[in-house]
Amino acid sequence: MIKETDLEILFPEEIIQTEIAKLGIKLNNIYKNEELYIICVLKGSIMFTVDLSKHLKMPLRMEFIKLSSYGSGFTSTGKVSAVDIALPDLNNKNVLIIEDIIDTGHTAQFLMNFINHNFKTNSIKFVSLLDKKCKREVDINPDFYCFEIDDKFLVGYGLDYDGYYRNIPYIGYVKEV
Ligand code: IMP
Ligand code: MG
Repeated sequence: MIKETDLEILFPEEIIQTEIAKLGIKLNNIYKNEELYIICVLKGSIMFTVDLSKHLKMPLRMEFIKLSSYGSGFTSTGKVSAVDIALPDLNNKNVLIIEDIIDTGHTAQFLMNFINHNFKTNSIKFVSLLDKKCKREVDINPDFYCFEIDDKFLVGYGLDYDGYYRNIPYIGYVKEV
């Protein structure tokens, strides 16, 4: 069990919030007054979705789906399971998927395929708070991201280790001992 004192801060709360505010401005410029459906991928994206949504000025609908790709601990299984993926009719809608982190890319690919298979959206874009580009196994990149990171296991601000640390307001990693 990792303790909070074992964590090194990588992105302090203020830096995260500054980047999210900048992203909000960018999205407001892109979508203008068009209606937007944001899709929060639970559980990891909860903090990011809530904070980002407060900056968005277009008519906004918030949807929540639950996927899981990590078993327990530090490694990605590469397998994505849809735990709860009930979505409204997204035909002709502008859709923005909100992820906490893109690692191997399997989750992002699964979701893009799922939505494109079931709906003919007006537009579909993908935003991730964090991008672990060096770990990518499939050819997919977010349209927007706030931070690019190395191959470190991060926790906090929605990200968990075995279900813990999601509530920490900053993003940190486990110190090498
Ligand atoms: P992917 O399918 O490998 O891209 O994994 C995406 C999911 O894995 C994310 O939505 C997270 O839930 C989880 N994940 C990937 N890297 C980390 C990490 O460093 N800390 C915590 N969760 C992670
Ligand atoms: Mg996630």
